[in-house]
Amino acid sequence: MDLPGKDHIYLAPFQGITTHVFREVYTRYFTGTDKLFTAFFSGIQSSKSLRSRQKELEKTHHNGVPVVPQILSKEGDEILLFGKLCHELGFQEINWNLGCPFPRVARKMRGSGLLPYPVKIEEILDKVMPVLPLKLSIKCRLGYYSPEEIIALLPVFDRFPLSEIIVHARLGKQMYKGSVNTTAFEKILLRTTHQIVYNGDIFTGEDFRKRKQQFPQIKRWMTGRGLLANPFLPQLIKEKKPLDEPQSVIRKYADDLYYAYRKNFNDSLRSLNLMKEWWSYLSLSFDHPEKVFGKVKKTKSFNDYEEAVNAVFETHEWTGKGMKTNRTE
Ligand SMILES: Cc1cc2nc3c(=O)[nH]c(=O)nc-3n(C[C@H](O)[C@H](O)[C@H](O)COP(=O)(O)O)c2cc1C
Repeated sequence: MDLPGKDHIYLAPFQGITTHVFREVYTRYFTGTDKLFTAFFSGIQSSKSLRSRQKELEKTHHNGVPVVPQILSKEGDEILLFGKLCHELGFQEINWNLGCPFPRVARKMRGSGLLPYPVKIEEILDKVMPVLPLKLSIKCRLGYYSPEEIIALLPVFDRFPLSEIIVHARLGKQMYKGSVNTTAFEKILLRTTHQIVYNGDIFTGEDFRKRKQQFPQIKRWMTGRGLLANPFLPQLIKEKKPLDEPQSVIRKYADDLYYAYRKNFNDSLRSLNLMKEWWSYLSLSFDHPEKVFGKVKKTKSFNDYEEAVNAVFETHEWTGKGMKTNRTE
């Protein structure tokens, strides 16, 4: 049950970034996040794909914050198999990805590519819901081609006891471009009995307050790129007080994440690729984002990387500005 007036903030799933290593370190340093999601699992019917990502499902909570495993699939049987496994591992909920926009996924009627097919979605839910041993939530977009798609889907969703529906207020065909469509998002709120979670372009405390004013009935918010660029974002939204020495916290956080990845990958250079992906967001909160990212991006060894990070913290300042809001409405 949500307490009246209390906002809940979720960390969005990011393939290749919000790994179990990231979730553990992030929640050790930063407060304000109420739910975490794994990046999507797919092709789980071949047990190899599950085994290679077993560590993703080892913890049901990171530092007290619950984890929701996510599945990308258009097969009821596969969703059920995943649900049963997650239930055995102690999870309370799984999330069905109906939002992935990538053409190689969407073309196969998966992710947001399934949104134009309400009959198919209903068939899957009819198969899964009566026997699924844990809660199911959905993460979707407004549609693949048109926001009319979600309007057609809402009566289908209303037939089932979903725990919540997270809506990234864009279309699949937009990928991550253009602005979010808050007018279409607002229409959903009038036509569903489900709890809706808002997702899309919350990059600053100001963005959050603007959306909250616009949608006072929403109490659950998901943020991805904004939180990756400024990890203090959930805390800033909730506590609204100045931060204590943010640059030194960020330094420790960056070092901890780096050593945690090295340990996880037995000192394989793969850890550098993950760190670089993560720096592509974090660098946005420094005074010269391109220079900061440039320094880290070109490194090829652990020594290079450590020198580059030292140089970043010696010569650049943390501004906390994060992602730029691109709003045309
Ligand atoms: C590199 C990348 C990977 C992503 N991986 C996933 C994923 O595995 N599952 C998912 O539901 N969404 C995924 N997303 C979408 C985000 O979770 C989120 O919905 C999107 O970034 C919009 O939120 P934001 O504006 O707060 O970033 C991904 C996005 C990006 C850019």
